[in-house]
Amino acid sequence: MSDLDQGFSPAPVATRTELRLDSITYVAGRTLLDDVSVVFPAGKVTALSGPSGSGKTTLLSIAGGLLQPTSGTAALDGQEMWTGSGDPLPEVAFVLQVYGLVPILSARENVSIALRARGTAPADADEAAEAALARFGIADLGERQVEELSGGQMQRVACARGFVVGAQVLLADEPTSELDEGNRGVVLQELREEAARGAVVVVATHDPAVVEACDLHIALDEGRVVR
Ligand SMILES: Nc1ncnc2c1ncn2[C@@H]1O[C@H](COP(=O)(O)OP(=O)(O)O)[C@@H](O)[C@H]1O
Ligand SMILES: [Mg+2]
Repeated sequence: MSDLDQGFSPAPVATRTELRLDSITYVAGRTLLDDVSVVFPAGKVTALSGPSGSGKTTLLSIAGGLLQPTSGTAALDGQEMWTGSGDPLPEVAFVLQVYGLVPILSARENVSIALRARGTAPADADEAAEAALARFGIADLGERQVEELSGGQMQRVACARGFVVGAQVLLADEPTSELDEGNRGVVLQELREEAARGAVVVVATHDPAVVEACDLHIALDEGRVVR
């Protein structure tokens, strides 16, 4: 007897999750992004490289729904990233170049609030925050107020906060810029782990060693895709 005779449906075709940018232009006084079309697939780490001022942060901001493109669309499997308010979809997590940490809160609280904001109970969020800090080798800094930390330590707290939520889309803006080689390797390994669980992972960088460690590579220059 065939599967059909037993009333089975054929296996569903797996949806290939991707974050797709179509003809994105962004004008703020001058043109910062010019007709950018790229696809960031799930399960891969994509490097977004380019010199300072080439538009990496602007592109990530549009990709994650923080900024509205002047024209073109950014969408996750057809769902528009721009929600009308600058609030990203819950599927999106950022590691921001400026960290975006709350200076007077502890490292653990800074990570925990990312989960609490998504509805996780405080005790569970704190536990997950501890584990996320440990992923970046800073479990011992959990109680420390962020404003007392070094730049590299803050950057690792910002990584923990971005990674803790297990988002479908993880957008990391120069997440290793303040780190030594060993910690850069840790962050790269963790980015790979996020892709391995099926996330779309994009890392903006101008570090060739980071580009080398990624699966895919998009390069920007003066707001245009050059590879
Ligand atoms: N809101 C804005 N208004 C005007 N210019 C901006 C704005 N944001 C960024 N820029 C400029 O756009 C260019 C691209 O910036 P950015 O995306 O931050 O580049 P990158 O991250 O590659 O260094 C830079 O020249 C920057 O000064
Ligand atoms: Mg930038």
